[in-house]
Amino acid sequence: MRVALIPGDGIGKEVIPAGTLVCEAAAERFGFAPEWHSFPWGSDFYFEHGRMMPEDALEQLRAFDAIYLGAVGHPRLQDNVTLNGLLLPIRRGFDQYACVRPAVLYPGVASPLVGKKAGDIDLVVVRENTEGEYAQVGGHVHAGTADEVAVQTAVFTRHGTERVIRYAFELCQRRGKKRRVTSVTKSNAQGYGMVFWDRVFAEVAREFPDVETESLLVDAACMELVRRPESLDVVVASNLFGDILTDLSAIVAGSLGLAPSANLNPAHAHPSMFEPVHGSAPDIAGRGVANPLATILAGAMMLEHLGEAPAARRVEASVAAVLSGPKERLTPDLGGGATTREVAEAVAERVTAASE
Ligand code: NAD
Ligand code: IPM
Ligand code: MN
Repeated sequence: MRVALIPGDGIGKEVIPAGTLVCEAAAERFGFAPEWHSFPWGSDFYFEHGRMMPEDALEQLRAFDAIYLGAVGHPRLQDNVTLNGLLLPIRRGFDQYACVRPAVLYPGVASPLVGKKAGDIDLVVVRENTEGEYAQVGGHVHAGTADEVAVQTAVFTRHGTERVIRYAFELCQRRGKKRRVTSVTKSNAQGYGMVFWDRVFAEVAREFPDVETESLLVDAACMELVRRPESLDVVVASNLFGDILTDLSAIVAGSLGLAPSANLNPAHAHPSMFEPVHGSAPDIAGRGVANPLATILAGAMMLEHLGEAPAARRVEASVAAVLSGPKERLTPDLGGGATTREVAEAVAERVTAASE
């Protein structure tokens, strides 16, 4: 198992060592040996070399089984430069079209929604990850003048739309939970791309007669995610809507610091990439208090993708055990006083504990 590490910026540099610590513990217990190779790419690299990663970065990464990424983003650099210089080209270049983002309310974690208890929230957002609003098609005319024009085009292809929707239905069947797929669009206003998405959703749905379907407009979907999150099972959405919905799904399940993300190339034709949903969090970076659990859970998704499902289940169970333990041993976002490192060590200890 060869894994490329890209800690990146801010708390990315703090949570990736936490993630590898736990993966190491799982590897020891289940008898495999991950080989880590760390790449110093990100904003510091940019300050030195004028780019976020080398020109041949994807060629270098191609040799790995997976990529484990922290976060990218620096207060002194325009986010479009940093993200379009590193994260987004990897998602697109390795055709990681299914971005899978579970949101689970664990025992011991308080949702900001009154009355929600553990298990009430157990959903997964499948976000289209290679096109849509993130296709980077557009341009400027007369930049910097009073006649300035900016054009940004969303791109929805039959191939791209169909495959991510089909992935969502198949995932729903594998989960075997509520057997419901909710599609989120804005086809009352976006009369081309989103109307097309709705049509493809209805077509693909016919292949899965055992799965209940629902279509929501994105504004209503935001409301329903707060009002009745327990009714959601698999949610499938375009790139931008999936992005927005997953900060919301993360917080209703207790914290952005708990939300993992897998950027999957399901056919294993290229490496997939695993990361937390959150960003580089400059407001808390360098203090050692970032919650590492999102990254640790993303690590579990990576182990699963690489064929180590029992190790993945063990990591998830260990995270759940730590979350239901004393609150003061959790990070501040969950009301505790522990450091990133302490939480990671607690999970790793659980992973290797003899009993259970
Ligand atoms: P953010 O996710 O970095 O932070 C939002 C809030 O959540 C902050 O208050 C932060 O302290 C808190 N938070 C995030 N992760 C946490 C954790 N693990 N533990 C505890 N608290 C946590 O979002 P932002 O502030 O909008 O963006 C900051 C930078 O990160 C920007 O440059 C943005 O472009 C970038 N970003 C990168 C990624 C990525 O690399 N995948 C994702 C989102 C944002
Ligand atoms: C995420 C992030 C990224 C996205 C940004 C940093 C480009 O917010 O992974 O959720 O929008 O995909
Ligand atoms: Mn996001």
